[in-house]
Amino acid sequence: MKYQFNDNFLWGAASSGPQSEGTFPGDGKAETEWDYWFKQVPEQFFDGVGPSVTSDFYHKYKEYVKLMKEIGMNSYRTSIQWSRIFKDREGTVNEEGVTFYQAVIDELLSQGIEPVLCLHHFDMPMYWMEKGGFENRETAEGFAAFAAKCFELFGGKVKRWITFNEPIVIAEGGYIYKRHYPAVCDAKKAALVGYHIQLASSMAVREFRKSGREGSIGIVLNLTPTYCKEPDNEEDRRSAEIADLLFNKSFLEPSIRGEYPEKLVELLKEEGICPEAAEEDLEIIGSNTVDFLGVNYYHPRRVTRRSTPYEGPLMPEKYFEEYTFEGQKMNFSRGWEIYEPAIYEIAVNLRDHYGNIPWYISENGMGVQDEEQFLDQDGIVEDDYRIEFIRDHLIWLNKAIGEGCNCFGYHLWAPFDCWSWRNAYKNRYGMIRVDIKNGGALSIKKSGRWFKQVTENYGF
Ligand code: BG6
Repeated sequence: MKYQFNDNFLWGAASSGPQSEGTFPGDGKAETEWDYWFKQVPEQFFDGVGPSVTSDFYHKYKEYVKLMKEIGMNSYRTSIQWSRIFKDREGTVNEEGVTFYQAVIDELLSQGIEPVLCLHHFDMPMYWMEKGGFENRETAEGFAAFAAKCFELFGGKVKRWITFNEPIVIAEGGYIYKRHYPAVCDAKKAALVGYHIQLASSMAVREFRKSGREGSIGIVLNLTPTYCKEPDNEEDRRSAEIADLLFNKSFLEPSIRGEYPEKLVELLKEEGICPEAAEEDLEIIGSNTVDFLGVNYYHPRRVTRRSTPYEGPLMPEKYFEEYTFEGQKMNFSRGWEIYEPAIYEIAVNLRDHYGNIPWYISENGMGVQDEEQFLDQDGIVEDDYRIEFIRDHLIWLNKAIGEGCNCFGYHLWAPFDCWSWRNAYKNRYGMIRVDIKNGGALSIKKSGRWFKQVTENYGF
């Protein structure tokens, strides 16, 4: 059976500025929440490894781009670090940062790789965090100013922009589950932060349109299709509906339709955590919807009604429990269930309920611990499991496209092994190996060679 994709399909991979570049003294970059947090609690980061070196893309970008070309990528998403462009809240431009991103963009274009640039990938500068980060509406305005500057600086060459990566993770990670800074558990703050991020995203879209630059602008959402254990049980269905409202629709609906789902607003009001929304803000959200969507898909969410009363702080778990699905197939990547058909269901949902908006898979990937064990005699990582993972997801994507779904590309997370927040270098995701322990030497894994063939044949 042959799985064919069209000639304009984006074949690529994604990383982000803070996870790949490294932070070096003297390059003019301001401190982010991650730089700051690592200094406070280094022991909370896997192996005590922080954001200072990461993959050293800052110095080695030419080498990386060359290898990206070798594995057949025609597009690459990364993020511009706000803290590298603006030195402070007033927007003093860091020329070294501008020069760096211009050089990266030029290098990518010279190799025939389209840069897809994201403006926020979990990396809040401390100068805004000190003001409350996205708890404060002013930060949304600051973000819009940063976005406008990026369109002015790079908009001539970059044609595809993204406002935020996984905004729900910023709200839940920092304000509910304590996985990101400021690591508090406060559902009211989480809701407010989520609301201001949406506002910031819509303001950035407005700036893009005002700039008159050619191209399109979207948002990247991590969509987790939600399945309940007993579809015949009303409480189970309600649990799944709530999980879907909180984790998927809270950004999907305002970003694409320009409004919040009534049911979500009712739920937040019932809990007394619904942010006060000014008419002016709702107007900005309503009239600045995105041109396209990036979908990060890793795993589905399986929920059932709570079997015991919830007594903790106000959290999504008040409404449901997550359970382990014991179906026909039970594979995991870094503890996440691998379930490829969900990619098809996401596609059909976007086709049938969101006006068939153009979208692409902006992240999908397999995190593997202790990948060194798969090195062959020549020092090449034999990652057949990753090849199988990508292929199985592409098969479902291909089926969806064949049925009229408007998907224009597939990006793996990630082109090369990179630093991953609190998990640091625990899970390896790349098609290019970074030998962290030996000075960061780079080599293409088996999956990279395979990916090249797929891109050359526009399928497999
Ligand atoms: C995605 C994020 O959700 O997951 C990335 O956008 C992140 O930034 C990736 O690195 C993998 O996460 P982890 O913790 O398994 O390395």
